[in-house]
Amino acid sequence: MEIHRTPGSMQKQSQAWKKEGRSIGFVPTMGFLHEGHLSLMDIAARNADLVVVSIFVNPTQFGPTEDLASYPRNLERDLELCQSRGVAAVFTPEPQDMYGPEFQTYVTLEKLPNHLCGLSRPVHFRGVATVVSKLFNMVLPDVAVFGEKDFQQLAVIRQLTQDLNFPVRILGGPIVRESDGLAMSSRNTYLSSGERASALCLSRALEGASRRVKEGEIRADHIRREAEKEISSHPFTEIDYVTLCRPDTLEEVEVISGPTLMALAVKVGKTRLIDNAVLTP
Ligand code: PAF
Repeated sequence: MEIHRTPGSMQKQSQAWKKEGRSIGFVPTMGFLHEGHLSLMDIAARNADLVVVSIFVNPTQFGPTEDLASYPRNLERDLELCQSRGVAAVFTPEPQDMYGPEFQTYVTLEKLPNHLCGLSRPVHFRGVATVVSKLFNMVLPDVAVFGEKDFQQLAVIRQLTQDLNFPVRILGGPIVRESDGLAMSSRNTYLSSGERASALCLSRALEGASRRVKEGEIRADHIRREAEKEISSHPFTEIDYVTLCRPDTLEEVEVISGPTLMALAVKVGKTRLIDNAVLTP
């Protein structure tokens, strides 16, 4: 497995692979890999000749009071996991090589960030859209795979790929859950055991909502209130949002008349967790 530490060396390798006619499947990550990331690598491997994984904790997508400094890192373990999954190359640049002292060019989307996580994380999607655009230019992927747990991020990336004409096919990978339902996330490592138990409120609220919609409930505010009640009944929880919206535009709905995204963000202790499900009447 190759390890590239600078944008120039990654790009040169990708250009060489392209010249040989080999297609590149790309999985961008911030490291501290778990089964969810590994499942994205498997999807990339099924859709391209070789897989490149990036490991980069991107500073521009963290707000000033967020967890950039404490974000969990374990490069050695990540490299072993990538190797065991047959990854061809890991790209792990330093922040100063991604953002030079005169850096001033950002990618911003006009509409999709004005919902869900974008409301409480105002710079987040600008940072994600910028770094993913830069990574696409360095890794030159044919296919890129992103997790559906970050549903809004996936929507943002699909849109920017279309708007900026990146020749990249974007694929979503289903949410991978622990056996008790908790969606896998690198941030789960922050949870104390009491908080870990409370964190199950997210998947339980989604399961409850899914059941109610299957039983015939179509009023979004009823579904939302029931979910809020479930979440608030667990200690350490503080709701950021419980939203029912259109999966394409992320605009809120009042009536569930077709596949509807239910998205949650909840602080459990100091850890902000997200989860979602598409509810189908
Ligand atoms: O989902 C993530 O891990 C990050 O937001 C991404 C896509 C790697 C960009 O930094």
